[in-house]
Amino acid sequence: MKALQIKKVTHVIGAEISGVSLKEPLRSEARAAIEAALLEHHVLFFRDQDITPEEQVEFARQFGEISTPPFTPKYSKSPDYIVLDQTTPEGEGADNWHSDNTFMAEPPLGSILKAVLLPETGGDTCFANMVAAYEALSEPIRTMLDGLEAEHDITKPLQKAIDAGHSEAKLSEVQAKWPPVQHPAVRTHPVTGKKALFVNGNSTTRLLGLSARENQILLPFLIDHVRSPAFQCRFRWDTNSLAFWDNRSTQHFAVPDYQERRVMHRVTLAGDRPA
Ligand code: SIN
Repeated sequence: MKALQIKKVTHVIGAEISGVSLKEPLRSEARAAIEAALLEHHVLFFRDQDITPEEQVEFARQFGEISTPPFTPKYSKSPDYIVLDQTTPEGEGADNWHSDNTFMAEPPLGSILKAVLLPETGGDTCFANMVAAYEALSEPIRTMLDGLEAEHDITKPLQKAIDAGHSEAKLSEVQAKWPPVQHPAVRTHPVTGKKALFVNGNSTTRLLGLSARENQILLPFLIDHVRSPAFQCRFRWDTNSLAFWDNRSTQHFAVPDYQERRVMHRVTLAGDRPA
């Protein structure tokens, strides 16, 4: 049997994992190596994994419980995985730097995304290390943020999904079930203990305790801070590639540079309350 290999994508984020099949349950050493690599590299990439949606769900279950998102695209066939099916991705939501579902009181631990159908060119996904983003801020700004909470709201991402025709959910019903939540602006990773900037352009609406004017200036700055390539890597998908990211320490951005069909399957792992 080939040994599992780990090759860094950049110095700050991302590693490609080879020498492992995700079709069957992992041996305990392989599972432990993948978990350790996820904590170290924040996002892992696997290629040539011709697995069914059910096998993708079983792979995910080896790292935690499956999370059913508050709303799923209408193409999804099971509560365990969502189907993203896009041909006009511009402005549809994933082309905005974000962590998944931070409008939940307990946002996901991570997500596992598989490429099913890809455009000839384009449709890459970029990932950013939010620990590096936090550490790149000056000490006075870090100190201020350490004491702040931010509000996260489902409205914007859900409205975009409805407007794009991807969701048949009723906005007011989902809003009533999932009211805005508060999270620390800087969260501490429950396993590594590292601090990560935890505001994003999809769901964070305001920093609590700051005036409207202060929010107008500071929040866009923090949301845009993720854009530096110094914190990022970019993944070029092949059919049957998988990305497994730690949603607690990363954000991602799906590049909307295609107009052919792109289909992805995403399984989401339940997380905990950010602290
Ligand atoms: C997502 O935002 O979870 C999907 C990213 C992608 O489609 O590349």
